[in-house]
Amino acid sequence: MNIIYQLKKVSKIYNQNNVALQNVDLEINTGEVIVILGPSGSGKSTLLNILSGLDLPTKGEVFYQNKRIDNQDEEQLAAYRYQDLGFVFQSYNLMSSLTAKENIELGKTHQNDCELEQIIKKMGLLEHQHKYPYQLSGGQMQRVAIARSLIKNPQVIFCDEPTGALDEKIGKAILEELQKINKEQNTTIIIVTHNPSIAKIGNKVIKMNSGEIIETYQNKKTVEASKLRWV
Ligand SMILES: Nc1ncnc2c1ncn2[C@@H]1O[C@H](COP(=O)(O)OP(=O)(O)O)[C@@H](O)[C@H]1O
Ligand SMILES: [Mg+2]
Repeated sequence: MNIIYQLKKVSKIYNQNNVALQNVDLEINTGEVIVILGPSGSGKSTLLNILSGLDLPTKGEVFYQNKRIDNQDEEQLAAYRYQDLGFVFQSYNLMSSLTAKENIELGKTHQNDCELEQIIKKMGLLEHQHKYPYQLSGGQMQRVAIARSLIKNPQVIFCDEPTGALDEKIGKAILEELQKINKEQNTTIIIVTHNPSIAKIGNKVIKMNSGEIIETYQNKKTVEASKLRWV
């Protein structure tokens, strides 16, 4: 299997003494669905930010497709994020002055309008595409955020608490969508959550506590998101 990410003894220390990550070693394969679980403050978002080049480690090395990225400059990291990564965050990060369709177009790099229409349709946003974020529900905003990340056909999609504020039905629909993208395009999906029910959809589950990986396990058989039950 192809390794897409490798972390070697990665630590992140804020303000000299706040240890957000401690000596983390990790390998992620291309095309895996990774679920990162842990209580609030355990370092999940910090780990995701370091993988995605939004933040740099204090110590250790980060490799993406066998290339070191923790020593790259901001311009190189921005290009990496722009070309290779999609982001689906709990806060959606939508522009409030743009419609759903315009927000999705922001993710565009060089694709044509045909694909834009297809993705809008696929995400069930046809009738909502001309609405502004304030006119959309949480689930619809989340679908706009996913559509925006899909349009550039990224190598990796990072999701930080993608279902956090959503009810069970809508949350599962979002996860189903991510599973579908993973199957159809072999996109690596990295999901951060504090909801243990979601672990069943991961090929690999990483449990964190106090900035450390306390357990990693593989699911031989993953469960379809539609069959999950929130506990
Ligand atoms: N930008 C920051 N500045 C200072 N401390 C931070 C920053 N980001 C995170 N931390 C600290 O690092 C620890 C891990 O945070 P985080 O990665 O956000 O955890 P999680 O996502 O699991 O809730 C926490 O103690 C948090 O307060
Ligand atoms: Mg977090």
